[in-house]
Amino acid sequence: MKKIVEKLKKLVFGHVSILIVLLCIAPLFFVGKGLFQGVEIEQAPMEQEDLIVVGVSQLGSESDWRSAHTLSIQNALTKDAGYFLIWNNARQMQENQIKAIRGFISQRVDYIVFAPVVETGWETVLQEAKDAGIPVIIIDRMVDVKDDSLYTTWIGTDAEEEGKRAGRWLERYLRKKDRTSEEIHIVVLQGTPGSTAELGRTRGFCEIAGYHDNWNILEQTTGDFTATRGKEVMRDMLRRHEDIDVLVSQNDDMTIGAIEAMQEADVSFGEYGTVTVISFDAIYDALELVKKGWINVDIECNPVQGDYIDKIIRRLEKGQPVGKSYIVEENVFTKENVEKFLDSRTY
Ligand code: AHR
Repeated sequence: MKKIVEKLKKLVFGHVSILIVLLCIAPLFFVGKGLFQGVEIEQAPMEQEDLIVVGVSQLGSESDWRSAHTLSIQNALTKDAGYFLIWNNARQMQENQIKAIRGFISQRVDYIVFAPVVETGWETVLQEAKDAGIPVIIIDRMVDVKDDSLYTTWIGTDAEEEGKRAGRWLERYLRKKDRTSEEIHIVVLQGTPGSTAELGRTRGFCEIAGYHDNWNILEQTTGDFTATRGKEVMRDMLRRHEDIDVLVSQNDDMTIGAIEAMQEADVSFGEYGTVTVISFDAIYDALELVKKGWINVDIECNPVQGDYIDKIIRRLEKGQPVGKSYIVEENVFTKENVEKFLDSRTY
């Protein structure tokens, strides 16, 4: 009987002590998670020592263009090419990007690559990366900082030039249609407020519009670079303005949404309609609409930036100098030239 009692004691106290140990270590798991709450950052395992570790903060996944941009980076910086990628999707929030960059710094990555959601507010975190000696490569959009030594280089698109291209195309188009003295009513669907793509395209287009007294910009409202918002905002614009001649939509996703709104409101558009449609990005689905004459012109914004990043990193690895900025090549697509580009468009 005594033996049985002893055995029972051992069993009970054994379990109690395991429970106590578990209760003590549980908070450690939560503390570890809490450090980067809301930011998914993959840890670089020790065996990756021979790979180049790159922390990438992508600003979100708002558009088809963005998916193509993400794919271009992930296809270029592969393990086979010698990279270990730590990926972060910031879901359109600057604070998520700042947290992610801080996470990359504390993990001592070799390079930080990031596409800033907006232009301002980066000085502090970039100074932290500089102090840690980690080169920063900015991609797609730009940052607005006084001290450009806070980053190593920038690879992206020329948003202001894109805006000017849209304006110059409209100049030529109206001349061809003999509408240079008629009042032209324009509405603009803008992208994410404060982003380079929104600021640059707005600045560029408005500069050209400023040369034409007959161009009247009725409204510029953000559609957040998404098809859903593009549709909603266009629907409201159609209610507010009866006489829209031109829609300038700062990306294809919003344009596709806006086209749906025009169809539902029975408003004709494109080559053969009343609303001339100017779009940006030139993704495959939109180029198809250019071919059909639904979109009059599509100003390209090139998302294929992965190979540039790879080349820059390789140069830096060899200790070779790199330039401060690189602008990717871009085109303008209309019904006249679109067909020869459609087949090779992969996004
Ligand atoms: O910064 C590039 C812009 O961002 C693209 O025009 C748009 O589609 C994307 O979301």
